[in-house]
Parts: sequence; C-alpha cells; structure tokens
Amino acid sequence: MNQTTRHKLFEPFTFAKGVALRNRVVMAPMTTWAGNADGTVSDEELAYYRSRVNGVGLVITGCAHVLPNGMGFTHEFAAFDDTFISSLRRLAEAAKSGGAPAVLQIFHAGNKAVPGLVPGGDVVSASAITTDAGPFSPAVTPRMLVHDVVLPHVTLLPAASPRMLLVTSLMSRWTACRRHVCVGSYMVPP
Ligand SMILES: Cc1cc2nc3c(=O)[nH]c(=O)nc-3n(C[C@H](O)[C@H](O)[C@H](O)COP(=O)(O)O)c2cc1C
Repeated sequence: MNQTTRHKLFEPFTFAKGVALRNRVVMAPMTTWAGNADGTVSDEELAYYRSRVNGVGLVITGCAHVLPNGMGFTHEFAAFDDTFISSLRRLAEAAKSGGAPAVLQIFHAGNKAVPGLVPGGDVVSASAITTDAGPFSPAVTPRMLVHDVVLPHVTLLPAASPRMLLVTSLMSRWTACRRHVCVGSYMVPP
C-alpha cells in the first residue's frame, strides 16, 4: 500500500439505518468462557472488552443465549431473562468504552448446546438427527422442535432484542443483533 494513501479499511462507513462507524475494523465475536456461573458477565470479561475495543469501528460481543436450553459454552453469559439487563448494561458500557458502537450477538446453540448445561439435558433442534461430537459438545440426539414448540422460540429469540434495546435507550447506540442464530462456523439453527 502506498504510504500516503489512506486505506479504505480506515475510512468511515455508515449503515443504511444510520449507524456510523469511524472505520471498518470490527472486533469479531469471541466467546470468553469467563462469565459468572449465574449467567451474568464477569468483571474479567468487562476488563477483556475494555482492553480491546479502543480504535475499532465496531464491536461484536461473544454470543449470549436467548433461552436457557440454548447454552453452547461453559461460562457463557446469558440474555434470556430481564434479570440479565443490568449484566448486559455493564457489558454494553465496556464494549462501547472505546467509542465505537457495539452489537450484542444473540444466539441459540441448537443441537450444539451442551447437555450438562441446559435444564434437564433437554437439547433441542430442528430435527432429531444424532450429531457428531464437536469441539465443545458431545454427540447428541436432540429433541425435535415441532410447530407449536418452535413458535415460542421464534418469539423468544427476538424478545432478547427489546432487552438490548432497553439497554440502548439508556445508553444509546447499542445495536441489537436480530439474527436468530449465531453465525459462527460451529453453530447451527435450532
Ligand atoms: C476463542 C474464540 C471464540 C469465538 N466465539 C465466537 C462467538 O461467540 N460467536 C461467533 O459468531 N464466532 C465466534 N468465534 C469465531 C470468530 O468470531 C471468527 O469468526 C473466527 O475466529 C474466524 O476468524 P479468523 O479466521 O480471523 O480467526 C470465536 C472464535 C474464537 C477463536
């Protein structure tokens, strides 16, 4: 690259909905396995975000499960209940402490949920097909979600967004990720 040329990576970018980034460097979502046992964000994680968000244009947090049985990693922070709002508010403060907007990544681990971490070991997915063991979860035969069970899931997943938007209204520019599932390579739809 020509030393005198400003690389596009460092140019501002504005999303269609108006969220403006100062540059195009994005902190990728990275689960830390460091949340508290009760699903809240730990001080260790807050320090992790504060130390890494300076200079980037956008921050995407590690994934937060939107249903108790959507937990895919040990010590993963949660977003399935309003009791987590203060925890998520602390996360938002840390994620945005570098001056960039932040996205909370919400997800449901589906058949990659860890049986020992979900209530009753009740791992659910789109179909009852036995999985191969993965790096973070054993082989399981999940319970298939049928229409009347899927509906609450579909409504509950976006329900986490207003929870984030509540945080938004208090803090501004916290952007809720409305994707239903984590886009990481090791996640599949529930
Ligand atoms: C420790 C670790 C944790 C990760 N956690 C998540 C996550 O929570 N959500 C997600 O979508 N991707 C997650 N990823 C995937 C990364 O965001 C990224 O997409 C992946 O590492 C590919 O980028 P790379 O080729 O630069 O490593 C994680 C990756 C690592 C290494």
